[in-house]
Amino acid sequence: MQTPSKHIERPPVVAVMGHIDHGKSSLLDYIRKSNVVAGEAGGITQHVSAYEVVHVEDGIPRTITFLDTPGHAAFSNMRERGVEIADIAILIVSAEDGVKTQTLEALKQIEKQKVPYIVAINKIDKPNANIEKTKNSLVENGVYLEGMGGSIPFALISAKTGAGIPELLSLILLTADLAELKGNPHENAEGFVLESSMDPRRGTSATLIIKNGTIKRGAYVLAGTALAPFRIVENFLGKPITEATCSSPIRVTGWDEMPRSGELFYVLYDKKEAEKAQADARLKSDSPKTNIEFIGSSDAQKIIPIIVKADVAGTLEAVKKELRKVSAEGLALKIISEGVGAITENDIVLASSDPLALVLGFHTKCDSKARDQQDRLKVNVHMFDVIYKLSEWITEHAETVRPREETDEVVGTLKVLKLFSQSKDGQVIGGKVLTGSLKKGLSVKIVRREHELGKGKITVLQSQKIETSEVYADTECGLMIDSKIEIATGDTLVCFIKVTK
Ligand code: GTP
Ligand code: MG
Repeated sequence: MQTPSKHIERPPVVAVMGHIDHGKSSLLDYIRKSNVVAGEAGGITQHVSAYEVVHVEDGIPRTITFLDTPGHAAFSNMRERGVEIADIAILIVSAEDGVKTQTLEALKQIEKQKVPYIVAINKIDKPNANIEKTKNSLVENGVYLEGMGGSIPFALISAKTGAGIPELLSLILLTADLAELKGNPHENAEGFVLESSMDPRRGTSATLIIKNGTIKRGAYVLAGTALAPFRIVENFLGKPITEATCSSPIRVTGWDEMPRSGELFYVLYDKKEAEKAQADARLKSDSPKTNIEFIGSSDAQKIIPIIVKADVAGTLEAVKKELRKVSAEGLALKIISEGVGAITENDIVLASSDPLALVLGFHTKCDSKARDQQDRLKVNVHMFDVIYKLSEWITEHAETVRPREETDEVVGTLKVLKLFSQSKDGQVIGGKVLTGSLKKGLSVKIVRREHELGKGKITVLQSQKIETSEVYADTECGLMIDSKIEIATGDTLVCFIKVTK
């Protein structure tokens, strides 16, 4: 039964998106430093990817939940499920660069999700900032800003000096008001998994965003097939809590398996019921836990086995997404193992079975045993901290490893007109270049009535009795050819080079 009276306004969940280096992290850092409840700013835990800030508007403090970049993997996972992670998106664009490829990618995601968004034109403090040009580049790409024929709100900001940031926060709250974001704190909490991680001491943790309802002590959280009791639960500052409600990020530790980022969660208060729900979810689950994934054809000529490790489930997804973009003729990537955490001895041993195998680490480390094994087994381990560096590297690597075909590329042809002499050093002939050119040192095919009789090499080349290195079409020349085949007048010599493609 609907009880609308119990619905209350809930804080907006905001995702910051945009091109690399346009200032997403800087903006979030600035907001975090200046708007997190006083006295608590220093207490923020290391790996928070979501946090709440308070912005005072007309004397009234209001909360906003921000999602940091790792949320993007969850963001695109969710898209496929048709559920909204963020209520509002901020599209950040550098006033130095204007719209770039990833700006457009972010825009596509935003439009697909149909989330309201605000443009933040950043780096306005920079001497090269060009606000007008940036606005024009936005309009050219269909982002019709307020005052430029459209209604998309925007703020001019500097994540460095903080200029315009209070205005941006006000715009967020205004947009939230228009979207009439409601939640019911009397219902059981539900929402999504932003990301998950494994800590050898603490166990499996996940950051959840509550989109509706309340979670309290005594609850069981089910996310896909992963279950956790409400035992170790912290707010975004790493402080233990006993209750949380609409739009809050919480960190739940103690899952029996790793929940996947983007997965929906809900809570139950009866242990038996929770276990039954988990069993049902496992029955329905279509994703085996260790699935081998091929990128490219499984019967490609060459296959690179890959083991991927990342710090959290969100980044692991992001890495796999990048790997899926790799395509090289005759080559496939095969993800034979993946996981969250450090690279271990097992990973190295697994990779050592194939000389082509790669161990890729993203935002993670090699533990000491793994390092010893790596030295001993000479396994290819590569570590990355920046996603586009990983993409670049793997694309380049695939290009160097992919199988190559050698073909003969014709450089020029010559008609044999005259035979001068034959000795053990070679056959001296005269001829006329028909097409292209002939070069000293290159190989030739000896062709008679369209049949290749054999090959030879140009050891000496003369044009008008002077030694030269190259002769061109329509000129006559003298040549010495080193070949076992006896050349005859009327033969064609096809000069060629070997190329690998
Ligand atoms: P990725 O996470 O790599 O995609 O980048 P990002 O969008 O998070 O950008 P980041 O915040 O790391 O900023 C990139 C660079 O621009 C850093 O060197 C920042 O110090 C600088 N920067 C960001 N915002 C501003 C700004 O408003 N003014 C100035 N002067 N520099 C800025
Ligand atoms: Mg960043």
